[in-house]
Amino acid sequence: MTIAAPDVTMRVSGLSAASGGSMVAHPPDSGLFWVCPSLTPLTYTQVWKRFSAAQQLRYNQLTALHFAELISGFEAGGSRALAILVARGDTTSSLAEKLRGFIEDEANHIARWRELLILGDPLWRANKSGRGILGCLVGMLARRRNLMPLLFWLMLALEEHGVEISRRCVQMPRGALDGLFDAAFRDHLRDEVRHVQLDVHLIEQFYAPLSAFWRRVIAWTFKQLLSRVLLAPRKASKHVIARLIAEHPELVGMKPEIVTQLVALGLDSNYQEMMYSRKSTPQLFAMFDRFPEMHAISSVLSSYEPPRHG
Ligand SMILES: [Fe+2]
Ligand SMILES: [Fe+2]
Repeated sequence: MTIAAPDVTMRVSGLSAASGGSMVAHPPDSGLFWVCPSLTPLTYTQVWKRFSAAQQLRYNQLTALHFAELISGFEAGGSRALAILVARGDTTSSLAEKLRGFIEDEANHIARWRELLILGDPLWRANKSGRGILGCLVGMLARRRNLMPLLFWLMLALEEHGVEISRRCVQMPRGALDGLFDAAFRDHLRDEVRHVQLDVHLIEQFYAPLSAFWRRVIAWTFKQLLSRVLLAPRKASKHVIARLIAEHPELVGMKPEIVTQLVALGLDSNYQEMMYSRKSTPQLFAMFDRFPEMHAISSVLSSYEPPRHG
């Protein structure tokens, strides 16, 4: 099964212009990368070297779609949390305006990722399983003043990693990345750099004043979520492998090895360095430094070393 079905052409906004002022998008180019290979988990495993070029390319494209789905899910969750914060009236009018701008940006991003998903994978709608536990978790945390800042830490980690995803993609050699994905990552980079600054501000405003007890609760929970959810490739990554094997059945005998090595990546130092490090997520690490209760992150993240004094 190939995903670049020739009849998948749809009218959307902002992808590519057609004559007469309307906008027409075509499927991404199935002969090109859709995301920078250095971001994709399996490239950090030994088994990767045994993949053919065609298998590697297809894995890259399926992973790009997986990223688009993940990012849009997190963006929807973050927007929901910020909408609750604005509605609660705890913010100055200037901050509320910035948050409304943030929510509007994310609505545009979500629409963009969904367009790419539909164009890149006509089966995507059928595969989509719904909002899952993320929406419930966000709603629950956002309504508790002492726990809401946990969401800001998660947003900072995810958005700064999102900046790194976009940065690596736009730095790829010209013509190596599909044009639709290239344009989406370029636009995303512009907005997300601003969002990261806002995440830092939200942590300063709503996390820093909490009691030591609540800060410890949040730091401990954040550490658990980082190691168990954000770092380790999860069920959705296994779904990518299942799709790849469905399209390349010759890989079926390697499946146990692929899955074992994929799951082990949560503890791999090179993979961790790409995901979260002073180079890839400098603001996040500066905020870890700033709050002593966050220094214990070093027990699950080998790329983080707390400052010697502080
Ligand atoms: Fe975004
Ligand atoms: Fe964002």
